[in-house]
Amino acid sequence: MKSNKTLNGTANFHMGGKDIELPVFSATHGPDVVDISSLYKQTGMFTLDPGFTSTASCESQITFINGGEGTLLYRGYPIDQLAAESDFLESAYLLLEGELPNEEESKQFRHNITYHTMVHDHFKNFFNGFRRDAHPMAVMCGAVGALSAFYHDSTDINDPEQRKIATHRMIAKMPTIAAMAYKYHVGQPFVYPKNDLGYTENFMHMCFAVPAEDYKINKVLADALDKIFILHMDHEQNASTSTVRLAGSSGANPFACIAAGIACLWGPAHGGANEAALRMLMEIGTVDRIPEYIARAKDKEDPFRLMGFGHRVYKNYDPRAKVMQKACHEVLEAVGVKNSPLLEVAVELEKIALEDEYFVKRNLYPNIDFYSGITLRALGFPPEMFTVLFALARTVGWIAQWKEMIEDPGHKIGRPRQIYTGAAKRDYVDVAKR
Ligand code: CMC
Repeated sequence: MKSNKTLNGTANFHMGGKDIELPVFSATHGPDVVDISSLYKQTGMFTLDPGFTSTASCESQITFINGGEGTLLYRGYPIDQLAAESDFLESAYLLLEGELPNEEESKQFRHNITYHTMVHDHFKNFFNGFRRDAHPMAVMCGAVGALSAFYHDSTDINDPEQRKIATHRMIAKMPTIAAMAYKYHVGQPFVYPKNDLGYTENFMHMCFAVPAEDYKINKVLADALDKIFILHMDHEQNASTSTVRLAGSSGANPFACIAAGIACLWGPAHGGANEAALRMLMEIGTVDRIPEYIARAKDKEDPFRLMGFGHRVYKNYDPRAKVMQKACHEVLEAVGVKNSPLLEVAVELEKIALEDEYFVKRNLYPNIDFYSGITLRALGFPPEMFTVLFALARTVGWIAQWKEMIEDPGHKIGRPRQIYTGAAKRDYVDVAKR
């Protein structure tokens, strides 16, 4: 990646009896950044920013979020346009390569992904080691980590051709592994990929086909899931993407890095929120119980939070949530759900929270996870699979960000510093004297 940041003056201040000058860089969109990389050399001091609330960890040209406006761009294209006009593989190409593909590039990319969807046949033995009641995300962490043991011929990160093959393998095999995790979880035989199906249709086929019966793809549902995948594909330097970059910065192979990202995504403050949001809506159950849960969310003594609400970056309506809300209505209509009690609770909860002073003051709006649970459930997936579906889609963003980092000639191993506040240096005390 060639750097695009432009020098825009300096930040000057007085610190520790010295005049300090640090370069300031401008971005295409978003705030300028003060480059503090020489601060320690100049002052002998570190900066402290737990949770990275004011710290850019890298330069990136893939995704941009304007949290105040509530917009999300993939390579400059607004997410709502891509969700409406593009499809998963075209958007994946865009994230990886920087531009939308022409017809020939699109054909070649689709071919490459389609012909990497099968996994090594011994891979299925790996699943038998897991308990049947294992959470599919636990299975995903292990199974994706194991890919490097099967595809050792694409783990040399210094070889561009191997990097490209690893990228295609990750995107292609993720639906197969996710579907295997699902089938194992529900106790059904694995279903092999079918090359005449599109990416998302093939995933639905591998999840829902059984040997005893043909599975008919419902185009409306497949399109809705494809849109959901596009919405989840990338999201700047979120926790799991930063995890993938950090793991990759040491030179770890891409399969191991994606496994690290999956582990991070599982947390309920991140990708686990879609499962938690649906479980919360089920627990609330009826509209009359909403005030009780709103009161709990506002009570600082109670750890309960409204799942699917709030975001570190969006201080406005999450643009993905808008598309997701529409997809939710389309899916419920397509599966013939006239009156969904869960949707009724969700719509009313959103209305009440958006008018409540606590949520208004803190800019807490619904995020993508608020409606995704209801939608994925209506598509036929159990809550345990929701974060797996998120991981499937986010794999494209993870691998694009990993590729960008590896191809950046200035990349270094990620190694944060700390402010140490533990015991001062002291001498060992013999056990008899403690
Ligand atoms: N319910 C109730 N209060 C909340 C919520 C919530 N969902 N989210 C934030 N707050 C309050 C929080 O208590 C704090 O109040 P105060 O200023 O009085 O202490 C204030 O809002 C700011 O919260 P924060 O925890 O400092 O904000 P953060 O940026 O560190 O956290 C978050 C962002 C997403 C972790 C948080 O909003 C949250 O836990 N939401 C619920 C989980 C969720 O839906 N996560 C999915 C995120 S979107 C999917 C993805 O990209 O991974």
